[in-house]
Amino acid sequence: MSDVESDTSRSAAIDRVVEVAIGAATDAGTLLRERLTRPRDVQYKGTVDIVTDADRASETLIAGRIRETFPDHRILGEEGARGAEPEREGAAGSPYGWLIDPLDGTTNYAHGLPTFAVSIGLERTGAMEVGVVYDPMRDELFVARRGQGATCNGRPLHVSGTDALIGAILTTGFSYNLAERTGQAEIWGRFLGGVQAIRQTGSAALNLCYVAAGRIDGYWERPLRPWDVAAGALIVSEAGGRIGDFRDQPFDPYGAEVVASNGRLHEAMLAVIAGEATAAGA
Ligand code: 2AM
Ligand code: CA
Repeated sequence: MSDVESDTSRSAAIDRVVEVAIGAATDAGTLLRERLTRPRDVQYKGTVDIVTDADRASETLIAGRIRETFPDHRILGEEGARGAEPEREGAAGSPYGWLIDPLDGTTNYAHGLPTFAVSIGLERTGAMEVGVVYDPMRDELFVARRGQGATCNGRPLHVSGTDALIGAILTTGFSYNLAERTGQAEIWGRFLGGVQAIRQTGSAALNLCYVAAGRIDGYWERPLRPWDVAAGALIVSEAGGRIGDFRDQPFDPYGAEVVASNGRLHEAMLAVIAGEATAAGA
């Protein structure tokens, strides 16, 4: 695909991207599900940050499919998969880049807790075009394409209509960097006294899909990596939700932080995160 492609050829190319992303996500998800109860090889990337043989096998499958079909595309995979990257910084490369989390919710997976997903996003010159998240345990396939809405197993997704924090279920996550958890717990504490409930899934991609589906009303987290959020962010915005950073700047997959909501709760969430209010007082 060249940068001067026509709208029609771009649209046909994106059709093919969606097809490949869905095939890769569902096959990788099936691989993860089948391996869940088998003994696994766990390696530590940090004190509590791990990677398993299943993360690597899933990424190998996904990256192989992409390289086979789109040999000129860039790839950024959590476990190191790369595609046709430009040889030097600033050099012209493909406008298309894939962001892959082959197993989002690795800690859950390593403990046998069946809440995890495969997340595959495609950006074109920095803007998200396609997002696919697959949860193999519930057989839920979330798909979004820019400007065309979001679906779960083919059904259109819409964010919730909850308009007060006291009626809301929110979610967040805690970092692998233990030093950051105290600050994260302070934000959690400011929400806790004024919301219906706070849940934690352990998967950023699923948190975003659940906001899109109206199952969860709002989600905040920092720090995150591009592969955790790229696909899910598009799914939220295509489902009518709002997504940005802690200071309400536009979503950037490389920006490390996310506030995603149904829109109605967004300002109140930002105020609590910033320490300007507690949920009980918002
Ligand atoms: P993972 O399962 O792919 O490792 C948990 O809160 C969620 O945030 C998961 O999606 C996890 O991704 C991700 N995560 C946790 N700590 C992180 C950190 N320090 N940096 C980036 N992502 C993190
Ligand atoms: Ca991962």
